[in-house]
Amino acid sequence: MATQEQQSPSALELFFRRTLQEIYWSELHLRDVLETMAERAGTEELKSAFHTHRLETNDHVSRLEKIFHQKNMGAQPVFCLGMQGLFDEGWQVIDETEAGSAHRDAALIVAAQKVEHYEIATYGSLRTLAKTLGCEAAVGLFEQTLAEEKKTDGILTELAEKGINAAAGIEPLAEEKSPPPDTGSIGTESESTANAMKEAVDGLDAGAGSADASEGVEASAPGSADALLFDDDGKPKGKRGNARKKN
Ligand SMILES: [Fe+2]
Ligand SMILES: [Fe+2]
Repeated sequence: MATQEQQSPSALELFFRRTLQEIYWSELHLRDVLETMAERAGTEELKSAFHTHRLETNDHVSRLEKIFHQKNMGAQPVFCLGMQGLFDEGWQVIDETEAGSAHRDAALIVAAQKVEHYEIATYGSLRTLAKTLGCEAAVGLFEQTLAEEKKTDGILTELAEKGINAAAGIEPLAEEKSPPPDTGSIGTESESTANAMKEAVDGLDAGAGSADASEGVEASAPGSADALLFDDDGKPKGKRGNARKKN
């Protein structure tokens, strides 16, 4: 009997592969996003939670590369519109909150939990699809990552409940920040955030993947990650600006 790999791929198989590529794009960028969030968080516990999950995210990238290898696919990231929207929300939190405030930490937790929930939905669905498609070797790898995403979500809830939200609740309203000018030479938080992120992804050739892209997996080079995240002025692209054309 012909195996799944020998037949022409079904529409579901192609959808599975596309979802795999999109979460790969997301995980590659999440390593840098988590680093930026750790830098911008105020409390040591929250910084540490972001750092720890950044390390786990390296493993998430490696597991996805193993799955690409199992399926004889190159490790090819594909832009993920949903995750880009969540990244945008994270930058908005940093732009609109005072550095060092409990308010910022509470809002960063919300932004991070939205990302974790997106990942939980994606990995849960990929696991189910893998079972349906007979990719048994991938199921366990998805489950390992899924468990780490759920654990992180729980840790963030714990940090919020343990004191960050309460501290934010009694924090006086900070001095009103002037809205950032559209033009001019005054540096804004938005610019510095964008620059920090840009530096973080500089050199991340979106197809390069992790250093772990070994095992014979051919790392692809579909173009610069910057081009996906930033416009020509170096500012993060908005949700609409990244809308993918529907074929
Ligand atoms: Fe992840
Ligand atoms: Fe995660």
